[in-house]
Amino acid sequence: MNIIGLSIGEQCAASLIIDGKLVGASQEERFEKKKGYSGFPTKTLGYLLKQNNLKKRDIDYVYVINEQVTGLEFSLIQRFNSFSIEDYLAEAKNYYYPILFKNKKVQLLKIFKKKIVKKTFPKTIVDELIKNGENNKNTQIIRKKLVNEFFGKKVNVKFINHHFSHALYAYITNPINFKKALIFTADSLGDNENSNVYLADQNSMQLLFKSNKLNLGRLFRNLTLLLGLKPYQHEYKLMGLAPYAKKKEASKVKLIFKKYLQKFDGKWIYKKKPKDHYFTFKKLLEGFRFDNIAGGLQSYFEEIILGWFLYFIKRYKKIDTVMFSGGLAMNIKLNQKIDELCKKHGLNFFVAPSSDDYSHVLSLPFFHYVNNNKKIKKITMRRNSLRKKINNLNLGFDFNKFNQQKVLNWASSKNWKIQNLNLKKLSYYLEKDKVFALCHGNSEFGARALGFRSIIADPKNFDIVKKINLSVKKRDFWMPFAPAILDNYQKKYLKLNNFKNHYFMASGADVSEVGKKIMSAAIHPYDLSSRPQIVSKDKNMFFYRIIKSFGDFSGRYTLLNTSLNLHGLPIVNDYKDLIYILENSLIDGCILENKIILRNF
Ligand SMILES: [Fe+2]
Repeated sequence: MNIIGLSIGEQCAASLIIDGKLVGASQEERFEKKKGYSGFPTKTLGYLLKQNNLKKRDIDYVYVINEQVTGLEFSLIQRFNSFSIEDYLAEAKNYYYPILFKNKKVQLLKIFKKKIVKKTFPKTIVDELIKNGENNKNTQIIRKKLVNEFFGKKVNVKFINHHFSHALYAYITNPINFKKALIFTADSLGDNENSNVYLADQNSMQLLFKSNKLNLGRLFRNLTLLLGLKPYQHEYKLMGLAPYAKKKEASKVKLIFKKYLQKFDGKWIYKKKPKDHYFTFKKLLEGFRFDNIAGGLQSYFEEIILGWFLYFIKRYKKIDTVMFSGGLAMNIKLNQKIDELCKKHGLNFFVAPSSDDYSHVLSLPFFHYVNNNKKIKKITMRRNSLRKKINNLNLGFDFNKFNQQKVLNWASSKNWKIQNLNLKKLSYYLEKDKVFALCHGNSEFGARALGFRSIIADPKNFDIVKKINLSVKKRDFWMPFAPAILDNYQKKYLKLNNFKNHYFMASGADVSEVGKKIMSAAIHPYDLSSRPQIVSKDKNMFFYRIIKSFGDFSGRYTLLNTSLNLHGLPIVNDYKDLIYILENSLIDGCILENKIILRNF
């Protein structure tokens, strides 16, 4: 049985499971080589089929995310790929403002006519979107057409509810042997919901609560724009900025937010519902410094969500585990706080890895193995439980021998040194503050680099941050890098709380005194916290061996790890991307499966 998971539109991605096993998944941007590429994941599907010796006709079912309208017009103008800050401001002023303040009907594609990329979809679909737009009536028809067009025949297409998918994703990635769990899902909006709670056990998952009234995703997004950063993309930079805030000033900002959304008491209670989240807060926040806005927002965000969690935790006394999934679960600072709350109540806590809307494709095909009782909003797993169906995210493009050879040929033509990989020698280079690209195996799905497509360095000296930024990353000055730590050393380098699943960089963690000394370049420079990746043999053997060898050499079993990409580009997929990054940066060398190439140093 061959089943495809599809996300069409702005979080364009696809996955394939064969006989119940997830064999591959990728975001289309990696193949298109355009960050935020939107549309139909043609290239990803082509790759997944070819890799698994399948023809289009071999696909039995296609599961597509979202039952309701998805915003295909935004894909047609390639918003996530092409919008500048000015474009987002124009969107706020010319699109959202008339709708929310003047009650006018506005057509997005008229405002951004020049931005339409017609080849995003087949002509008939483009014409339909320009003429009628996407709505709840035509969305499934349009997307079904796109699927049939790709497969060249009518295939079995099923549309899955957005938040059920977020919840199932947490369920199938959670390694904890729970008996009863609450699963919280939260984001800006998906299928007209944004804050749901599910009760899960061995074989089922039932909706307990749903709402579309949580405004935090929207608020975060609009304040990101207000601070001159890209919405939908750079929200995490506000989180990174928050620790710099002055407490007194940040609490004034927080009070402004509190005038609107108050708290959760069985439902979201607004004191006063804002008309919008950009213009309203632009006025109210005038004169507040950027870091204090970020600090006030993060603090407000944590308080509101913690209140929501606590409400259900108190009422469902028989649970032993709490899970969190969806776009808001990408906030690692919040996750650390939820972890503390769960610890107080004697509960396990798990955050689904990289759980934004791309992650839907990882859960979608598994809906084939559940009975879906839509009346009582409950899904029951058929036969076996779907627990632990996914335990790693190295699901993307395979950097095989052919790719490696291409890079070696390039290196030799550019007079780079080519050596057999000697881990001891590599450790020596790392300790001499050399910065390396690491590229091997299947690329990691999602937002975090997990040592398959990473840039690595010794985090002991803070100066390496400047070197990495000057030579390759150009990261914003306030944003920290992250440490990758060998699993046996996590207790030594971190102050671990309840959360024991730092394999996917899904939660923040405080750092021990030892850790602070040896990882200064990989922790937040101001509050000295971290977003660690624990590296184990079973998750990434090659990376494990590199860190182990570096530890044996230096006494420090940790490396700085950041994603292998240039500013504004997706993470490296194939040899072409890797060569591009080596040519357009001053990175010192690159580690491949069994070779190492060195720029002359
Ligand atoms: Fe979502």
